[in-house]
Amino acid sequence: MAEDLINSKDIYFPSYLGNNDKLITLLNRASQTLCDWFSKADKNGPLPFDESFKCIMPAEDGNSEDDLFSEIESLLNNSFNPVHPGSLAHLDPPPLVFSILGDLIAAGLNNNLLAYELSPSVTLLEESLCKWFAKKIGFNDFSGGIAASGGTLSNLNALIAARNNAGLGTNPNSVLLVSEDAHSSFVKCMRIMGLDIKNLVRIRTDNQGRMDINDLRKTLDKCSIENKKIFAIVATLGTTVRGAIDPIKEISEICKQRNIWLHIDGSIGGVFAITSIPIEGLKNINQADSITINPQKIIGITKTSSLLLVSNMSTLENTFNTGLPYISSKEDIINRGEIGIQGSRPAEIIKLWLGLRFLGLNGIENILKSSIKRKNFFIKNINKNKFDIYSGPLHIVSFIPKKLEPKDSDAWTKTKVNELINNNFMLSRPNFKGKYFLRVVMGNYNTKESHIEELLRLLNT
Ligand SMILES: Cc1ncc(COP(=O)(O)O)c(C=O)c1O
Repeated sequence: MAEDLINSKDIYFPSYLGNNDKLITLLNRASQTLCDWFSKADKNGPLPFDESFKCIMPAEDGNSEDDLFSEIESLLNNSFNPVHPGSLAHLDPPPLVFSILGDLIAAGLNNNLLAYELSPSVTLLEESLCKWFAKKIGFNDFSGGIAASGGTLSNLNALIAARNNAGLGTNPNSVLLVSEDAHSSFVKCMRIMGLDIKNLVRIRTDNQGRMDINDLRKTLDKCSIENKKIFAIVATLGTTVRGAIDPIKEISEICKQRNIWLHIDGSIGGVFAITSIPIEGLKNINQADSITINPQKIIGITKTSSLLLVSNMSTLENTFNTGLPYISSKEDIINRGEIGIQGSRPAEIIKLWLGLRFLGLNGIENILKSSIKRKNFFIKNINKNKFDIYSGPLHIVSFIPKKLEPKDSDAWTKTKVNELINNNFMLSRPNFKGKYFLRVVMGNYNTKESHIEELLRLLNT
């Protein structure tokens, strides 16, 4: 008899026969290891507590399961732990449980969002969920969207579509207008789009961190005199350092008058728009041409999870469609590798879908409201004689001792961050307008009032 091509005692892949007992045992063991690590945070805090993890590279022969599980444990122990209630530094909340399951299912499914034939159900799911979001924020029937791996990529998809839509594909005079507090990834977008940093025009912000409309008007006139071609204006819905919201209504009116694409970077605040939470400045976002929504940053959908929603899907099709000669297509169904930058793409939409279905609209609202409550409690009780406080309508607060010189802010924030981490509170220290600040992001559902009281005790004294 001919020798079998496969050595059947090795479990490299799931079997299409029998019940995959071995894989089930491995998954159970992995779940147990992960959950043990979650609960270790109680004792150890948000930062890694064991520095013995060694990055061992693959050897001639494969390692045993026991070796690998011991390395997984070491890797976890040497990782940042977002579930700890003192994890308040960044826009990286604890992972939502059904979203963790979604990642597992997407990995096992191993479907590819490049094309319908490689991902029939998830292609339809992504299309439907984008449409659902688009309708929820008030876009019309032509709207839709595409998922991408993070806010940067969603913004980039939008800017490339905006430039193409303006017919400025290769024009070196094309410029993008953003506020001076917009996210640093717009600099990266410029480079990727073959533009110079000079093509990124910054508009001043007011004392609340919002784009200054007078400065926007003046800049538009100046661009016109200098023959610069504006392909988009970006309004930020939640700035990174202080959670400010640009005046979307006024900006959208200007964009309409001048026929300029309005992109909203709602990486931080966009999800609020599908709830009834009364956040100032959220109205009128349906006047935009595109909006980034990045649920990984605020409701715990596991990374990465980001959507670009557009008011008219044909703008994405016209920009990114090249034809996929090696893929068959089905009438009326768009291959999703043809409407965005990414080609092969995992089924990240599953964890977003499961997460949202698990929460329901009430659950989403509950999580978001709780973040605003924590922020309000923090602001109410922080010593206002001691600190200058910078915070918009969202859940982010940056602060600094009054009268601290910019040159002293580096040392002060470093010392404070270390002191806080020794007490299991992790805050960040953004460099903002030439000065370091302490920043607290109140997006951690595990953080209770008592934790904030303890944090305030350490700050106020
Ligand atoms: C306002 C804003 N936009 C875009 C981004 C980039 O998102 P990502 O890191 O998911 O690419 C961030 C990241 O924090 C952000 O705060």
